[in-house]
This record gives sequence, structure tokens and C-alpha cells, in this order.
Amino acid sequence: MAGAGWLRGPAIGLGSTATVSLAISTASRDVFAVKTAELSRSALLQREQSILTTLDSPAVVSCLGFDVSPDHGGAVLYNLLLEYAPGGSLAQHIKQCGGRLDEPAIRSRTREIAAGLGYLHGRGLVHCDVKPGNVLIGSDGRAKIGDLGCARWVSAGEKEIRGTPMYMAPETARGEEQGTPADIWALGCTVIEMATGLPPWPEVANAWTGIRRIGFSGEAPEIPAWFSDEGKDFLGNCFMVKPEERWTAEQLLHHPFIQSSSSFSNCTVGDWISP
Ligand code: ADE
Repeated sequence: MAGAGWLRGPAIGLGSTATVSLAISTASRDVFAVKTAELSRSALLQREQSILTTLDSPAVVSCLGFDVSPDHGGAVLYNLLLEYAPGGSLAQHIKQCGGRLDEPAIRSRTREIAAGLGYLHGRGLVHCDVKPGNVLIGSDGRAKIGDLGCARWVSAGEKEIRGTPMYMAPETARGEEQGTPADIWALGCTVIEMATGLPPWPEVANAWTGIRRIGFSGEAPEIPAWFSDEGKDFLGNCFMVKPEERWTAEQLLHHPFIQSSSSFSNCTVGDWISP
């Protein structure tokens, strides 16, 4: 099914309420991604659109517009038109690179994600769902932050908790707050996943047990023993249990673990999953 001026291609991602497909502009032949949900279930997509249109950074996936189109079955679809990230998600990239990344690659990716978080946090936004599935690899080979459907403005003072349980910070798991430090905890979890190929807390049986453990044990996810001292120190700063003691994205960008890492890793465009 096409929107005005574009044709929908194959699906490249499936969510609970939205599907991501490849799309091509009939006029310019430019390729982009389109995230689609039934209009009646598109609140998160509309929220994502309203946030993305205020942003402009190579470290965050860009929004090209939106439209509404009819479905074959008579339903109305809401389409969010996005920059296409040909490397797919960081979660796919980790699998494609053999299940985990080496430390130089982790340093590069972490720097790119921290830069994106620094940009969002500087604009007063909390992403609220940082994890490898929501980080995309762009056409320049760099990681960029995607899926801002859960994001919120710090100034809005909303209290509702969002995101994915295993990546939640202790204060969020306790239902207390979800400010910018919660994204930094989730960045630490993302580093662990790049290093091990497993989500944080792999031994925890279900989300509910995980939330209790994260919120009330005072523990942080296990840091891989083979990590360098710089990497362990970096993660220690992401996993400060008290949010006010956790480092900010800006501080982390000066940490030796990522300060001078080159932006490209040894898993290249040729290794990427094609749509
Ligand atoms: N998956 C989700 N969003 C995407 C995008 N913009 N490009 C490629 N894959 C995606």
C-alpha cells in the first residue's frame, strides 16, 4: 500500500503496534523507512513525530514527515517517514558480528550513543527506552538513536514509567523517577549487551523478578571480567545506584573509555543485514 508519492517495500522490523518497512519516493527514488500503525493505535507514533520534528542531529534518526493512507481492509494507517538506517538495529548488528563486539567496536558505538544522548538530554529530552533494539546504524556506519516513541520532555513533569524492564534504572524500577540519569543506566546495559550478546540480568527469569531485583537489591548488572579497567570504570559510572551520582552523557564523553575512540569498527557495511 502506498502513501502519497511513495511506495512501500518489504518489512524490516515488527513492533507490537507499529511495523517498519522500506519505502521509496516515486519522484526522487530516494529510499527511506516508514513506520506504520493503524491510526487508532498510533498515539506513540504521533508522539514520536512531534518530538523528532524538533530535533536535528546526525546522532538521532531524522524524521522526513508523516502521512495518512488507506489500508486494503478499509482501516486508516498513520505513516511516519524516517531516514533509512541501512545497518539495521544495533541488536541485529551484534548478532551479525558473531554475538558480541570487541572492545574497540564497543568504545566507538558507545561514544556515538553517548553523543546522541548528550544531544537529547541537552534539549531537555529523556529517551526512556535506550537499548540495542532502539539504536540504528546509519549510512555512514555510525550508531544513531531511534524509536523516540517513549521519549518525554523533562519539563513536562510526567510521572508515568516507560521502557523495557531489564534496562530500567533502580529509581525507575521503584516507580520513583525516570529522568536523564535513567538513560545513562540503560546505556550501561547496552554496553553490557554489546560485550556479552545478552541483555542485562540474563539469569533473571522474568520482567517482574527483574524489576524487583533492580529496584531493591542495590546491585548493578555484572560487568564482563575481560573488560579493560577503563571499560569497568566507565560502566561503574553508568551504574551508580543513586541517579544524582551517575555521570551525565557530557561527562561520559570525556571518559577515557570513549574519549578518543575512532567512530568506525571492524564490522563494516558489507557485513550489514540487508533489508
Ligand atoms: N528499524 C526501525 N527504524 C529503522 C530505520 N529508520 N531504518 C532502518 N531500520 C529501522
